[in-house]
Amino acid sequence: MTAALVAERVRRDYPLDGITVPALKGVSFTVEAGDYVAIIGPSGSGKSTLMHLLGGLDRPTEGKLLIGGRDVAGLGPEDLARLRNETIGFVFQSFHLLARTSAVENVALPLVYRGMRAVERRRRAIAMLERVGLGHRLDHRPNQLSGGEQQRVAIARALVTDPQVLLADEPTGNLDTKNGQAVLALLEALNREQGVALVIVTHDREVAERADRQIVMRDGEIVA
Ligand SMILES: Nc1ncnc2c1ncn2[C@@H]1O[C@H](COP(=O)(O)OP(=O)(O)O)[C@@H](O)[C@H]1O
Ligand SMILES: [Mg+2]
Repeated sequence: MTAALVAERVRRDYPLDGITVPALKGVSFTVEAGDYVAIIGPSGSGKSTLMHLLGGLDRPTEGKLLIGGRDVAGLGPEDLARLRNETIGFVFQSFHLLARTSAVENVALPLVYRGMRAVERRRRAIAMLERVGLGHRLDHRPNQLSGGEQQRVAIARALVTDPQVLLADEPTGNLDTKNGQAVLALLEALNREQGVALVIVTHDREVAERADRQIVMRDGEIVA
């Protein structure tokens, strides 16, 4: 089976005020279908940069990146956006929900780009919200939901397209311990039960130890 994600000697340099910041200095690794990988490392070590690349939100300065078996170098912006929509789900620390939009509409949004009918989009969004335990919060807007509930809406939105990989960048970073643990348990259950590969950036040693694999980053490199 094709690996979900492959990075080979990937570099990412950010130009900044006439100098170059090397955020990733040649990183190689593979995410197989159904994997559970934790990425840890100090602030500034390149974790978010790597997640953006793996998710096709950004491109490498050098090196090779395959998403769902396809080399991103050969893809124009529209093809890359389509590949991202079909292959990747994202969960961010700060939820990134549309503020004036209900939970069900937030979750249905990625399906708009599939050209799916509104009735079908809504049906799938409701099913996914039920899956994350929010069947009773369909018409709530983000500011009418707790942080833990907002993150569960974001998880439903990430998974409504049935992606191969879920990329979660410090998904519990804005949550208290109890809500953080509930969100994590949900992500792990989705990995186990739906077979979606889970790549999670975390500061939490305990979380990292539960993953199948840990990747330790320092100064733009994988050190373990
Ligand atoms: N848009 C940007 N422009 C310039 N430098 C950046 C940019 N984004 C990140 N960096 C730098 O790249 C390095 C890695 O950042 P990041 O990937 O956000 O690390 P982490 O997520 O591990 O905290 C840091 O030194 C950071 O300051
Ligand atoms: Mg980060």
